[in-house]
This record gives sequence, structure tokens and C-alpha cells, in this order.
Amino acid sequence: MSQIFGLFPTPVMRVEKLLDGERVAAVVAEIENTTTLANAFSDRLSHTPVAAADTSALFTSLGALALPKVTEFGEVLFGEPLAWQIKEIWVNVLEPGGRQAIHTHANSFVSGVFYLTSPDPSARLVFHRSLGGSGFIFGNNNPNARINQFNGGKWMVPEIGAGDLVMFPSYLLHEVPVNQGERRITIAFNAIPDRLDNFGYAIRFA
Ligand SMILES: [Fe+2]
Repeated sequence: MSQIFGLFPTPVMRVEKLLDGERVAAVVAEIENTTTLANAFSDRLSHTPVAAADTSALFTSLGALALPKVTEFGEVLFGEPLAWQIKEIWVNVLEPGGRQAIHTHANSFVSGVFYLTSPDPSARLVFHRSLGGSGFIFGNNNPNARINQFNGGKWMVPEIGAGDLVMFPSYLLHEVPVNQGERRITIAFNAIPDRLDNFGYAIRFA
């Protein structure tokens, strides 16, 4: 008998329908009626300024809804229920044909995305293992090679719908490929714990 051990997996959490249909409709209506979208990264992706979680009643209520799930996910990452806060929160609007370039979220530990529309399958969140470093890279991606969790380089969230929340460690590379469907609306946030303690060497975050 032989065994394969999958070492050091990366957690990604999906909370299905954290927002019910009525709530999703109300949030979308509020965004479309009151939110000023600024800072266009591309002509088809726009977002509100990154803001503290208490900037608006909408952000405060979504943050309060997410926080218990952030704490649950944080316990997976760090092994205990820490005191988390939603540090920043913002709205993203991705028009048809738009995309979001690969990136990570610096100075954050847990990042999350509320889906306010059911995204076209083309525009689901894609996570990447690595972009490589400064050395040569070898691979064996070809039609005969079967992709698995050990040789795969990227992973697409398999199923996502309006009202869902997806959370991931903030260091994880991610992107949104070209949106071949309708307008895609999300609200993203970053969260931090109050402190981390490594054998008595503790650091605080504010
Ligand atoms: Fe992101």
C-alpha cells in the first residue's frame, strides 16, 4: 500500500447565501443609487474608495454580518478564535469585457468578497499558486498531463452565486478573468486580528 500526504493546504472559505435575495436586492439598489464610483483601474473596472468599515451604514451592517465568519476562518488560519476587525471595505463594479489584474492584499490577513450578482462563469475568482521568482521555471503542462492539487498552478472558485461570501488568506494571488457576462458587482474587505502571539513574541495590529 502506498500513501500520498497533502502537506500544507491553503484554506478558501465559501459561505453560501450569507445575504438572502431580499438583502442582495436592497444592497444593489443602494449601491446603484448612492455610491460614487471612482478611481477607475481600467475603463471597465471601477470601485469606491477603500474605506473604513464604519464609513456607511451599508458597510457597517455588511461588516457585522461577515465578522463571525471571519473569526471562524481566522481560527482555521491561526488555530484560535482571535478578535478580528474589518479594516477596509469597498465596492467593485466590473462591466462586460472588464477584468481585474492579478494581485494580493498587503497589510491584511483575511480578505473577503461578497457577491451581489451571480457572476458569469468566465468572471469567477481565480487563485494562483505563484508567479515564480527570479529563477528559471520548469513545468509539464500539456494535453497528456493530468492536473492535480500538487501540479496545478491555479484554481477557479467552482460555484458562486449572489449573496455568497468567499474568504481567503490575503497573501494569496488572485485575479478576475475577462467578464464575458453581465455587470458584476462585489463588495470586498480586508480583516486583521488584534494580535498574534508566537510563543510569547506578540505583535499588535490596529
Ligand atoms: Fe483582491
